[in-house]
Amino acid sequence: MHLTQKAIAERIKNIDVVIELLDARLPGSSANPMLATLTQGKPALKVLNKQDLADPERTALWLAHYNALPGTRAISLDASMAAPAKALIKACFELAPNRGGMVKPMRVLICGIPNVGKSTLINTLTGKRAAKTGDEAGVTKVEQRISLADDFYLYDTPGVLWPRIIVAKSGYNLAASGAVGRNAFDEQEVALELLDYLKTHYPQLLEARFKIDGAAAMSDEQLLEAIGRKRGALQGGQKVNLQKAAEIAIYDFRSSVLGRITLETPKEFAQWLAAGQTL
Ligand code: G4P
Repeated sequence: MHLTQKAIAERIKNIDVVIELLDARLPGSSANPMLATLTQGKPALKVLNKQDLADPERTALWLAHYNALPGTRAISLDASMAAPAKALIKACFELAPNRGGMVKPMRVLICGIPNVGKSTLINTLTGKRAAKTGDEAGVTKVEQRISLADDFYLYDTPGVLWPRIIVAKSGYNLAASGAVGRNAFDEQEVALELLDYLKTHYPQLLEARFKIDGAAAMSDEQLLEAIGRKRGALQGGQKVNLQKAAEIAIYDFRSSVLGRITLETPKEFAQWLAAGQTL
């Protein structure tokens, strides 16, 4: 068993609630499907982070989806905002109402794939600017116990919980979001997948940002080329530098200058799984 999984399995015995931090722009893809098995049906709090970047209507769909699952609650937040972050303390007490007080303190394990905002959230909750521990392979991260109140302990997961990509679409969405290292994917391929989704679901955002008409009717390749041309990503005269165009499209999505976008709905994610588009 992977070291992180082993550490979670070991720690879980004395945990009351498991918080899984998800990226609100791709909740299904940023989850680690192994976590449910590892956490042995403990009450779960799904925290949809980066809600400020996500499509609010779709965040509502995901919250309803998770809140309908047994033993599960879901909240959405922006990890840098203190008041919403504190809502997770209340949600934990609702999930494990028998805990609290000095004799039976609440013990919460917080998990999430790299870059989902765990350090930011912990810093916001503690009001400290703690140094971020290494998240590169081979860097041992010591388990931290963080006391948020006299009767509330937050345990940071030791090691790194890598995303477990079980459908191809998740790989593309993780790459577009920045959760996957730059060297691990082909930017043009990721940009074409991203544009394919955006032209269907958010054509008006593409048209407004890049000042192009009829985005929905274009092929993905035409769209990428049009973006490159509009943004002056040219090489050797009038030829579009598709690599540069891909970087622009991905950057504009990631930084939310395109607008608030969510790359999957609960229904779509379930369909991808059912269609067996596995890697
Ligand atoms: P991690 O510990 O889970 O690996 O993630 P970390 O907190 O380091 O956050 C990863 C990136 O996501 C950081 O940006 C952080 O600022 C950003 N982030 C975290 N939570 C939120 C959120 O709720 N909303 C938004 N918009 N961004 C969030 P970065 O560019 O890598 O670093 P920096 O610019 O903050 O220095």
